[in-house]
Amino acid sequence: MITNTELEYKGNLYPNHIVEFKQDNHNLYFTTENGVVLKITVLRGSVIRFRYATNYIFEPDFSYAIDEEASLGYSVLDVNENETEYTIKTARIHILVDKMTLRIQVSDLEGNIINEDELGFHWEENYEYGGNTVKMSKITQTGESFYGMGDKSTHSNLKGKRVENWVTDSYAYGKDQDPLYKAIPFFIGLNKGKAYGIFFDNSFKTHFDFAHERRNITSFWADGGEMNYYFFYGPDMSTVVGAYSNLTGTPELPPLWALGFHQSKWSYYPESNVKEIAKQFRDLQIPCDAIYLDIDYMDGFRCFTWDKNHFPDPKRMISELEAEGFKTVIMIDPGIKIDRDYWIYNEALENDYFCKRGDGPLMHGKVWPGECNFPDFTNPEVREWWAELYKEFMSDLGVHAVWNDMNEPAVMEVPSKTAPLDTRHDYDGHPCTHRKAHNVYGMQMVRATYEGVKKYVYPKRPFVITRAAYAGTQRYSSTWTGDNVATWEHLWIANVQMQRMCMSGYSFAGSDIGGFAEQPNGELFARWVQLGVFHPFCRVHSSGDHGDQEPWSFGSDITEIVKKFIEIRYQLLPYLYTMFYKYSKDHIPMIKPLVYYDQEDTQTHFRTDEFIFGDQILVCPIQEPNAQGRRMYFPKGRWYDFWTNDSVNGGKERWVTAELDKLPIYIKAGAVIPKYPIQQYIGQVEIKELILDTYFKLGVETSEVYEDAQDGYDYKKGRYSLRNFKLTGKEKSLTIQQFKDGSFITEYETLKFNFHGLPFKIGKVEVDNEEVTLKSVRPNGNNTFHIDKNFTLLHITSK
Ligand code: GLC
Repeated sequence: MITNTELEYKGNLYPNHIVEFKQDNHNLYFTTENGVVLKITVLRGSVIRFRYATNYIFEPDFSYAIDEEASLGYSVLDVNENETEYTIKTARIHILVDKMTLRIQVSDLEGNIINEDELGFHWEENYEYGGNTVKMSKITQTGESFYGMGDKSTHSNLKGKRVENWVTDSYAYGKDQDPLYKAIPFFIGLNKGKAYGIFFDNSFKTHFDFAHERRNITSFWADGGEMNYYFFYGPDMSTVVGAYSNLTGTPELPPLWALGFHQSKWSYYPESNVKEIAKQFRDLQIPCDAIYLDIDYMDGFRCFTWDKNHFPDPKRMISELEAEGFKTVIMIDPGIKIDRDYWIYNEALENDYFCKRGDGPLMHGKVWPGECNFPDFTNPEVREWWAELYKEFMSDLGVHAVWNDMNEPAVMEVPSKTAPLDTRHDYDGHPCTHRKAHNVYGMQMVRATYEGVKKYVYPKRPFVITRAAYAGTQRYSSTWTGDNVATWEHLWIANVQMQRMCMSGYSFAGSDIGGFAEQPNGELFARWVQLGVFHPFCRVHSSGDHGDQEPWSFGSDITEIVKKFIEIRYQLLPYLYTMFYKYSKDHIPMIKPLVYYDQEDTQTHFRTDEFIFGDQILVCPIQEPNAQGRRMYFPKGRWYDFWTNDSVNGGKERWVTAELDKLPIYIKAGAVIPKYPIQQYIGQVEIKELILDTYFKLGVETSEVYEDAQDGYDYKKGRYSLRNFKLTGKEKSLTIQQFKDGSFITEYETLKFNFHGLPFKIGKVEVDNEEVTLKSVRPNGNNTFHIDKNFTLLHITSK
C-alpha cells in the first residue's frame, strides 16, 4: 500500500493534499498542493461527473459522446467539510473526497458504500506524445459483477477480464477476441444488489481491468486525454443504463420497414440477380422489406458511382423494387480512390478535406478500390460536404438507406489495420492526432451520412447502418457486429453481443444472420434466424464466397422453418415498434439480459443465454447442433409457453423442448402482446384489427402499444396512438382498463383479444360498465373477443 505522500511510485504520479476548495454552482473544484484539480459536477442527483487536471489546467471541454439534449437538474446539493474530508450530499448519494489523497468514496443515503477509489486518480507522463496516461483504480467487492462495454465477444459478466477499446476491423473474429469494432467505455457494476455505472468519456485507446490483474481492484486508464468519467447510481440497473443512455442519447424512431426482415450478400449483382432474389421472396411468400447492395454496385469501388454494366439504370431498378415492396440499401465506405478522373477525389483534394500525416503529406492506405485518401470526418465542413454527396442517391435515384462500412477506418496490408497514429484530425476545432480521433472517426462518418440521408429522404425518416462506433453513435445509426463466422460458437457470440450492446445504450443492433465468413448448414442457419428475429436489427448477410445464404438455400424443410420465424417477427411488429418507442423516448434497452430484468436474483448474475425481448417475452436460443431441447433459467414470476400456452413458475432452471422448428419463447403472465397479421412487407396489407394476445395473471400487469404513421414526422406533432392496458386478474374475474394518448387515428376499428390461461369459464362480459351479450362482442368460441378500439374498461367474470 502506498500513501499519496510519496508522490511518485513505479513511475506513476499521484495527487497530494487538497489546499483549496471552490464551489461555482453545481461545479466543485478541489485543488491539491501538487497542482491536481478535481472538478466534480453534479448533473443529476445520481449522475456525477469527475474530471481531473494536472498542472492546474483542464483541456477544453468537448465530447462527441454527450447528447446535447441530455436531461440535467438536481434538487439537493450540500457540501460539508471536516478535518479529513469533504462530503457532498445530493438527494441520492453522498460523495466523500479525502483531503490527503483526493480519493473518492460514493455511498447511498443509508451509508452503504457503492464505489470507492483504491489509489484513485494517478497518471504517468507521456514523453513521446506529450500529455499523460491517465489512470483510475477502484476497490472491487467480493461478489461484485460487471456488465456492458459494447460489443465484447466474451462472457456477459466481465469480472476477471481485461478489455480495451480501439475500434478494429476484425474479420472472422473469435470468442474473447478484443478489441472489436466498437469503443463504448461504459460499464455497470453490481454489488450486493445495488448497481452503479461508470462512463469513461475519453476517445483515446482505453483499457479496463475488472479484477483481472488484482483480485480486488478494478481499474481503467487511457493512453492520453483526461481522466473524465461519469458516475451513475442506481440502485436499479435500469436507472443506471437509462441515465447513461439519456446522457449519450438514443435515436429517433426509424421507419417501420427498418424493423422488418432484410436480405444482404456481398454482393447481389447484376440487376437481374437482385431482381431474382426479390422475386423469390415474393414467390415463396417470405416477408422481406429490404435488399442490400454491397460494394460491387460501384464503378471500381468508387463511392457514389454505379457500375453501369451491371446497373444500367439504378433509378428504374430501385423504383421497380419499391413497387414490389423492397427498399434498396447501398453501401458507402470512407476511402476515396486516388484517381485524378474522379470528381469526388478532386473535390476533396481541392478543398483540403483529406486527412494529413504529422509532417504534412496526405494520409493514404489501401482498401477495396486500391490506394485511397480518407476524408477527415472530424471536420464539420467535411461532414457537410459528405452529407451533400447523398443528394443524388437519395433524392434523384430514390435510394432508401445507407450502410457505412470499413469506417474504423480499415486499412489493408498494414499491421495496425488502420490509419497511422500521426494522422492529423480537426476534431471539431480541437486538432489532434489519430490517437485521439481513431475511436470517433467512424462515428463522425456515419453522423455525416445520417445528416445527408435525413435531409434527402425527408419527409421520410432516415435509416443508416454503421460498423464502427464510439459511445453516442446510437443517436445517428443502427449497427451490426461485423464479420462474424458461420459457426455455433458465433451464434453464442451474437446473442451475448446483442445483450451487451443493449446494456451499453446501443439497442438498434444485429449480427450477420447465418454468419458472414464460411457457410452455415441448414440447421445452423435456421437456429440463427430464430435468434435473429428477436434482435432489433434483423438482416441476413454473408461474404457470398461459399455459397448462397437466402432463406431457401438449405432445402424446403429449412425454408419452412425460416419463413415461420420471419412471420413471427412480422406479427410482433407492433410489439417491436413499441420497444423501439420506449428505447427512443425512455431510454429502455430493447432487449435485456436476465440480470437487468431481476438483479436481486443472484441466479441471473452469470446467465448468458436467456434474454427478455422488450419487457414481456423471454427468449432462449438453441446454440448447439442436434438439440431436441435445452435447460434454461426462468426468472421469477409466471411464464406462458408461446407455443402451447402452458404456464410455468420461474425462479428455477428447467428442461424445455425445442425441436428444429421451435425456439423456447415464453410470455410473461399478465402481458397483452400486440400483433399484426403477416404481411410480405410493411404496408402491404391494411391492418383491419389489432390482435392482442392476452395472458392471464393473478394480479396486475401493464402493457403498452405504440403506433403511428410508421414513417415521417407527424408523430412529433402528437399524431401517434399510445394504448396502455392495465390488466387485473382475480380468481373469478379479469379486468382490462385502456388509457389512451395521442391523436393518431389507427386504420382499424376493433381490437381482437385472445385470452390465454383464463382460469374460469366466462359468464358475464361488461364493456364500459354495460353488460354486453356475448354476441355483440363477437366471441368466436375460443376466448376471443372483438371489441371497439376505444373501450376504456373491459370486465369479464366467471359463470
Ligand atoms: C466488410 C464488411 C462486410 C462487407 C464487405 C464488403 O468485410 O464487414 O459486411 O460485405 O466488407 O463490402
